[in-house]
Amino acid sequence: MTTMITTPATNPALAWDHSGNLSLGHRLDGAGHGWYDLADDVNVSSGVITGPKGSGKSTTVRALVATARASQAVPVTTLYTALGPFGGLANQLLNQIASVKVLDTAPDTAIGLLNDAAKTRTEILRERGLATLAGTELPILLAVVEGAAQVVGDRAHRWARLARHAKKLNIAVLATLEREDDPNLPAGQRALWRQLSETNRIQMRGHGIEAGTARIRDAAGHEYDTRMPNLTDGDPWLDTEIAPDDPLDPDTAAVFGDYYTAPASPRATGIWA
Ligand SMILES: Nc1ncnc2c1ncn2[C@@H]1O[C@H](COP(=O)(O)OP(=O)(O)OP(=O)(O)O)[C@@H](O)[C@H]1O
Ligand SMILES: [Mg+2]
Repeated sequence: MTTMITTPATNPALAWDHSGNLSLGHRLDGAGHGWYDLADDVNVSSGVITGPKGSGKSTTVRALVATARASQAVPVTTLYTALGPFGGLANQLLNQIASVKVLDTAPDTAIGLLNDAAKTRTEILRERGLATLAGTELPILLAVVEGAAQVVGDRAHRWARLARHAKKLNIAVLATLEREDDPNLPAGQRALWRQLSETNRIQMRGHGIEAGTARIRDAAGHEYDTRMPNLTDGDPWLDTEIAPDDPLDPDTAAVFGDYYTAPASPRATGIWA
């Protein structure tokens, strides 16, 4: 990790370094920030956020998305998937700030679109003769998949392919799940857990006023507890100061068609300098 760390004046518990590590607040052991590794020069990381209803999963994702965009260390476009029939999962603010919204649709559509995006980027990779798209100008597609268990369902094979290839294609999947890994989970869900949680894994451990207490396992396999900063619903911090998404590259944008809305304003710089 680099030693250069930036902290927004408006929310000092959040921070980022300049190679794609994002802070989720202060560690309870007093050893500084709790880091989530989104991207460095050679790697784009997916992850799983687990926890029961109301434990702060969506709020944690919100903090990661905001920090990733604000850091401007890597270009980021936000995709948000929350499927209607499974009820109540959609987080209003995430919905608001995402450029690609795949909401209230069938799981087949959601996973199909992500697979198509992966296919398109595989072609780009091949055309450019590269082993990985990390470090290129193509934005990381930060794909928030709420209720991932329902999205995956019996589509374990298609999901596995996506999870396997995602990181070299600049696709970071942040899946939320209510249940921990469990041998009784259906096979597809166990596969999802394994593939996305090899490094970045966040377990939400509180609820009620303790919502937002997280155990993070970082890229090196170390685990520690952090206390998320206080991010109330409708927090004006995010509404007013979040940096806009980077525009999606035309080839990936074409995959999403009407699900994609290009950011209206050019990317602001220096918001949190
Ligand atoms: N870091 C935080 N700071 C302040 N309040 C928080 C924080 N995290 C969670 N909360 C509170 O807890 C509530 C539940 O959080 P959140 O919606 O993120 O949980 P969830 O795990 O996504 O729940 P669900 O399973 O229902 O989607 C929020 O509405 C908010 O009031
Ligand atoms: Mg939620």
